[in-house]
Amino acid sequence: MPEIIESLPLDGWTGPYDAALKARAVADLERGAVLFFPKLAFSLSDAEKKFLDAKVADGKAKNISLDPASGKMQASSLTGEKAQGLAAMMERFGGQAAGLVQELLPYRAVERARTSFRPVQVKGRSYSKISDDRLLHIDAFPSRPMRGRRILRFFANVAPGAARSWHVGEPFEDFARAFLPRVEPHWPGKSWLYDKLGVTHGRRSLYDELMLSLHDTAKLDSGFQENSPHQRIDFPPGCCWLVFTDQVLHAALGGEFALEQTFHLDVSEMAEPERAPIKVLERLSGKSLV
Ligand code: SIN
Ligand code: FE
Repeated sequence: MPEIIESLPLDGWTGPYDAALKARAVADLERGAVLFFPKLAFSLSDAEKKFLDAKVADGKAKNISLDPASGKMQASSLTGEKAQGLAAMMERFGGQAAGLVQELLPYRAVERARTSFRPVQVKGRSYSKISDDRLLHIDAFPSRPMRGRRILRFFANVAPGAARSWHVGEPFEDFARAFLPRVEPHWPGKSWLYDKLGVTHGRRSLYDELMLSLHDTAKLDSGFQENSPHQRIDFPPGCCWLVFTDQVLHAALGGEFALEQTFHLDVSEMAEPERAPIKVLERLSGKSLV
């Protein structure tokens, strides 16, 4: 397998970064590597360290999320000043992550989407298989059609003492080639109906249906989960990483206290658009998917 993890020695959140390093970053990211920043830590103030507690979550959702446009935070048990403090920490993280992505990568129009805080130990969670992120999967959003746009995620391990452990799987094209023939066709009218019922924000494209099916089929296949090629990565406390999670098969095995910022971007922004999942799936299926 090609090198899955690429270390970049950034030690500051603001550039300017070296041109050779930037060229390497975009090439590695787009070919499906995880960019690992071992020396880049997101620091918490003493007051913010109080948020390193599973009880700041409401116990229902996996993650606490912040919408950067409205400033609205969801799924936290905190209220009043404490809630404001947590939202401010997430906002500071999201802003720094966005600044870094803008400085490091050549993309002109990257949309900053949700910021999340993940304060619950991954290991002990119990969920249905489809929502269990301890199983290898690619990311696809059930209610937010992407229509081919990319999902790029920036993570920080802010746990004081524990690594966040992942498995990272085979290249997207190998995975898609094996799973595409197994994906059931979707009944006509489904995307229209889901949109009308408000299940989705806008209509799912064939691409969205396919990505969701690939996500679900992979998680439900225990043979694939056990036997497909994968590599373990332990992200130590005080580091960050960046990855196209719609392309890179990943599973979170363990760890507590991570922050994450999601970005969306058009395939046309990419240096090598042919590497986008939509392009790979269109090539393999011989169909236009949006
Ligand atoms: C995921 O995106 O599947 C979970 C990653 C994590 O929380 O470490
Ligand atoms: Fe995921």
